[in-house]
Amino acid sequence: MTAAPRRLPGRLTAPAPGWTTRADVVIVGSGIAGLTAALRLRDEVDKVLVVTKDVLNAGSTQWAQGGIAAALGPGDTPAEHETDTLVAGAGACDAEAVRILVTEGPEAVRELIALGTNFDLDADGAISLTREGGHHRDRIAHAGGDATGAEIQRALIAAVQAAPDIEVIEHALAVDLLLGTGPDGEERAVGLTLHVMGEGQRDGIGAVHARAVVLASGGLGQVFTQTTNPVVATGDGMAVALRAGATLRDLEFVQFHPTVMYLGPDSRGQQPLISEAVRGEGAFLVDGPPEEGGTRFMQGVHELADLAPRDVVAKAIMKRMLETGRPHMWLDARHLGGEFWERRFPTILATARSHGIDPVTELIPVAPACHYASGGVRTDLDGRTDVPGLYATGEVACSGVHGANRLASNSLLEGLVFSRRIAAVLAGELAPWVPLRTDRRASGLVAADVRREVQETMTTRVGVLRSAPGLAEAAELIDKLAGCVTGTADQDSWEATNLVTIAAALTAVAAGREETRGSHWREDFPERDDARWAGHFDLSLVGGVLDASFTPAPATDGAA
Ligand code: SIN
Repeated sequence: MTAAPRRLPGRLTAPAPGWTTRADVVIVGSGIAGLTAALRLRDEVDKVLVVTKDVLNAGSTQWAQGGIAAALGPGDTPAEHETDTLVAGAGACDAEAVRILVTEGPEAVRELIALGTNFDLDADGAISLTREGGHHRDRIAHAGGDATGAEIQRALIAAVQAAPDIEVIEHALAVDLLLGTGPDGEERAVGLTLHVMGEGQRDGIGAVHARAVVLASGGLGQVFTQTTNPVVATGDGMAVALRAGATLRDLEFVQFHPTVMYLGPDSRGQQPLISEAVRGEGAFLVDGPPEEGGTRFMQGVHELADLAPRDVVAKAIMKRMLETGRPHMWLDARHLGGEFWERRFPTILATARSHGIDPVTELIPVAPACHYASGGVRTDLDGRTDVPGLYATGEVACSGVHGANRLASNSLLEGLVFSRRIAAVLAGELAPWVPLRTDRRASGLVAADVRREVQETMTTRVGVLRSAPGLAEAAELIDKLAGCVTGTADQDSWEATNLVTIAAALTAVAAGREETRGSHWREDFPERDDARWAGHFDLSLVGGVLDASFTPAPATDGAA
């Protein structure tokens, strides 16, 4: 594969820090992954600092509707959860990471309950479990009907606010890692630079000197035009890690959620999610109103029909959209009835109605949109990245549990389980304080106004359906945008530079993987090809140039 020719910044152009602070561990991000790490680490180290780009609850966890998957129900087992996860991951999971996820998951969820999370209960007082795509059992715990993430976030924030020894800095964008030379001569993460939109002592660029950094900063959805991700999801953590010498893995596996409410061709940014749990409760996809001859096109496509793994459903919707020339398909959930909608999906009901659609009486227009990065910063089973002192957890990380296509509701679980593991090992391997050293990486910045063109390019050429000519065009366009180096040092330009960096990286590996696997769908290579492509693309930044290498690995779902 040819590397992108234009040099990407080795660090973001920013003023020198005007203030400094210290913490043993600084955690970037305040969703389930970040706050779990903070709560578990506070007993292990003297000082934990959480920095978050907006306010504590502005990240992706808050928006998670469906729930959190774990083998909690009668008759269910971690082994069955493991099988469903491996099958969804289409041969690209790390088998050991998946085993850890499913075996440690139930206890981690019980701990969330002990912390004060109120999951919905059934008539007998047991946790009410539902089903989503790719699961062969009811194993999704939910809260507030369809407000699971919001309830988990509430409980975690309450616990953090009751822990005065955890310091929080809000409105703090992580600009870059600070690097130092460790006791064995190794280059290691020794903190980060931040931009804080604050007042008084902590305003503008500052430096946090730390003994370890935990990235829990979420995903990259804003690289695309339409996404279920909130506005903060601009791939910052992945870009920061890449610039510091960490490896990104499996970046081509971006999951498009099949049922995102279609708001028209000009709608941009975060779009309303219609949870898979709606299909789990009996809704089905149609290519037109059934009373006018519309058909249930998922039947016959997969044994689980409307509840097939989400890559299968997203592809079937796209195919039907292309065949019919329509910009969307529909979800029919009218038969669930008003009372059920009010009780089980109050958030989705209110959102749909606010956009002029009443799901109780009308079909919901839906189309796939970017939802989740299955890849990210490569970690080992305890969240360590390739940079000593730098850990990653949650969506920003690639722990290996999702492979080519994340199983529904495994994301909250991943953040929970792997943050606990980081906390278990980190204190024991904290390096002594290492002095900051002069950063010699070449700085740069692209102009803030490239954002829209990056998003359009990625959506039209590196979206659900990919092909060599489109990917080559995308690489060229992104390369051109990387050359628009007229940015001024502010949040818009830092984010735009991160978006360009991640777009270039994603496009490179999407072009490299000449097969269709999981959420990576190549029009020109429509089959999965285990003989050539069982394995992972790893990306690093060498002298400002992306370097992609392929590491073969055995397929992990037994399909090869
Ligand atoms: C959904 O509720 O459909 C999304 C759940 C997930 O992404 O895991």
